[in-house]
Amino acid sequence: MRISVIGAGYVGLTTAACLAQIGHDVFCSESDGDKLHKLQNGIMPLFEPHLESVVADGRKSGRLAFGSTEEAIDSGQTIFICVGTPPLPNGDADLSAIEGVARAIAKRASGYRLVIEKSTVPVQTGSQLRKHLAVHNTKGLKYDVASNPEFLREGSAVEDFLHPDRIVVGVESRRAAELLREIYAPIVGQSFACPVHSDCRRLTDPVFLMTDTESAELIKHASNSFLAMKISFINMVANLCEVVGADVTKVAEGMGLDPRIGSAFLKPGIGFGGFCFPKDVQAFIRIAERSGCDFSLLKEVEKINQRRIHEFVEKVRKEVWVVRGKKIAVWGLAFKPNTDDVRFAPSIALVRALLDEGAIVSAYDPQATEKASAVLPNITYCANPYEAAIGADAVLIVTEWEEFRAIDWHRLATVVERQLIIDGRNVFEPTEITRHGFQYISIGRPSRSADGKDAKAEDSLASIEK
Ligand code: UGA
Repeated sequence: MRISVIGAGYVGLTTAACLAQIGHDVFCSESDGDKLHKLQNGIMPLFEPHLESVVADGRKSGRLAFGSTEEAIDSGQTIFICVGTPPLPNGDADLSAIEGVARAIAKRASGYRLVIEKSTVPVQTGSQLRKHLAVHNTKGLKYDVASNPEFLREGSAVEDFLHPDRIVVGVESRRAAELLREIYAPIVGQSFACPVHSDCRRLTDPVFLMTDTESAELIKHASNSFLAMKISFINMVANLCEVVGADVTKVAEGMGLDPRIGSAFLKPGIGFGGFCFPKDVQAFIRIAERSGCDFSLLKEVEKINQRRIHEFVEKVRKEVWVVRGKKIAVWGLAFKPNTDDVRFAPSIALVRALLDEGAIVSAYDPQATEKASAVLPNITYCANPYEAAIGADAVLIVTEWEEFRAIDWHRLATVVERQLIIDGRNVFEPTEITRHGFQYISIGRPSRSADGKDAKAEDSLASIEK
């Protein structure tokens, strides 16, 4: 099929490249001239595992091309809208880019178009789209609007697109339903050459769930908000564990063994970030409010998440005492591993809080340095974790990059001022670190002094002895 994708952000670019990969002819447009120029010349505007090779394959086979919005509207009978929906100051999603695309389609299209919203949008955006297409439809053309929310995680977007658990489509006409079925048939049947693994067919094929447009739109916001709620829940459990001396990893393991709960998204840390959860939770709260529902549960999820940074800084303060003038190494800036994205990353708020207290911060991230330096210009960026740790009074682990697991503790010990690791992502088993002479403080687990003892147990023992 000939398909157009409008917007080449990480969702649009992944969608376009993967649709080409499964055999469609795809035209992808991008309004940012610099980004478009890069894409037309084979340069990736963002880092996402496997995406570069899938884009390159698409260009080579001639099934993937890049250009303007106008060309995209002319090219495909089905058009995926993948433009940004950033948050407005009041928490609402800014839908001006979507509206602009709807207007452009209505003015320019010369025949039937199926317009598919893939960007995360508030419920009832589909009906607004339908209305706007009609308002500007001076040629009496027929349009269909559908919702097809994406469930792509940054860092594994290509795999998530090609091997999803579910494909959700919200449609209002038989024609739209048939077109979407045809588009996704190779994925539903898992019948395409996978660019990621030679043998990665899932045991079960993805579920193709067809609903009305409103339900599909709600599925996306409700899913992200539910996952965010799981994270805030386990973060509160972690706080409780710290007070009562329990181990949150064991608690999460025990909870997760119940299939009704499941073990995913029960990893405590310094909070959820990225361009999806924080803005989607906010937007969902606003949608509920405007519909007369007080979704206070989600307000609490948001508050708990915002407190994570202060609670982590408190851990640093408690250990290093006066923060002013202390050298703090920050390992990891991306909001999660395998991406260079720092939008709403906990690292940004954390570093700002440390700088406000007068700390001297040096940071290392395998991918996100360039993007982070645009928002955090006043820190030192280093080429590796050891360089960042030179003279450090504390090393803070903020993103759980795989390479931190392979750290050479002996080498690290020779460069730091103080052998102290404060781990915001529970990357290590405590004893793994303390046997190298480091003090280890993590989330929701007993703190370990450098001799491997449970620091809290020692404190209470001391007070009993007194
Ligand atoms: C999320 C969803 O997982 C995707 O399904 C969805 O399509 C996407 O948003 C979107 O709306 O576009 P993403 O933002 O890439 O994907 O990242 P996640 O892997 O969900 O992680 C989000 C944040 O939660 C990260 O900061 C991560 O560190 C944190 N997290 C995740 C935890 O703190 N604990 C966990 O157990 C899991």
